[in-house]
Amino acid sequence: MITYREANAFDLPVFVSLDKELFPYSPWSASQYKEEFSSPTRHFVVALDQAENIVGYAGVFAPGEAEADVLTVGVVPSHRGKGIAKALMALITDWANTQGSTAMMLEVKTDNTDAIGLYESLGYSKLNVRKDYFGAGLDAQVMRLELS
Ligand SMILES: CC(C)(COP(=O)(O)OP(=O)(O)OC[C@H]1O[C@@H](n2cnc3c(N)ncnc32)[C@H](O)[C@@H]1OP(=O)(O)O)[C@@H](O)C(=O)NCCC(=O)NCCS
Repeated sequence: MITYREANAFDLPVFVSLDKELFPYSPWSASQYKEEFSSPTRHFVVALDQAENIVGYAGVFAPGEAEADVLTVGVVPSHRGKGIAKALMALITDWANTQGSTAMMLEVKTDNTDAIGLYESLGYSKLNVRKDYFGAGLDAQVMRLELS
């Protein structure tokens, strides 16, 4: 069974190590995560397996009555295809809603069909493409979900 909870400072090393595996093109450092975790406009959640190992995580930036930004979402390969990312996205979207967010925005690598499939399944629409957003030759698809 998978359980979910808000992330805390003790989870930080796991975020850093999973970022290297899941986002080798743009991993966040420990100091970046430390700063993000300490901000009241950010909210991070984790998915835990039965042994309480982190198998997925997500984060959002929601600065009050404005657009919120999905900062990250990732699930370890062994646990994919079981709805964990969908559940994590629901948790951060609920939190953004409580902050008064008007919409959810995100940038995803244009060749990341798994993630684009996830976002489309949640009702996100494709907007513009940002050239070289993740580095030279790594374009980002901008996507958006209106919140009511
Ligand atoms: C993208 C990612 C987070 C999806 O995690 P997941 O837990 O496997 O996703 P879920 O099981 O919750 O899937 C939810 C929906 O996403 C879509 N989806 C997930 N994997 C997909 C795939 N391989 N191909 C197409 N659609 C996919 C489906 O619509 C799926 O719904 P369905 O199972 O009812 O059809 C995961 O593949 C991952 O961690 N990738 C590496 C990190 C990454 O790229 N993160 C996104 C950064 S922007």
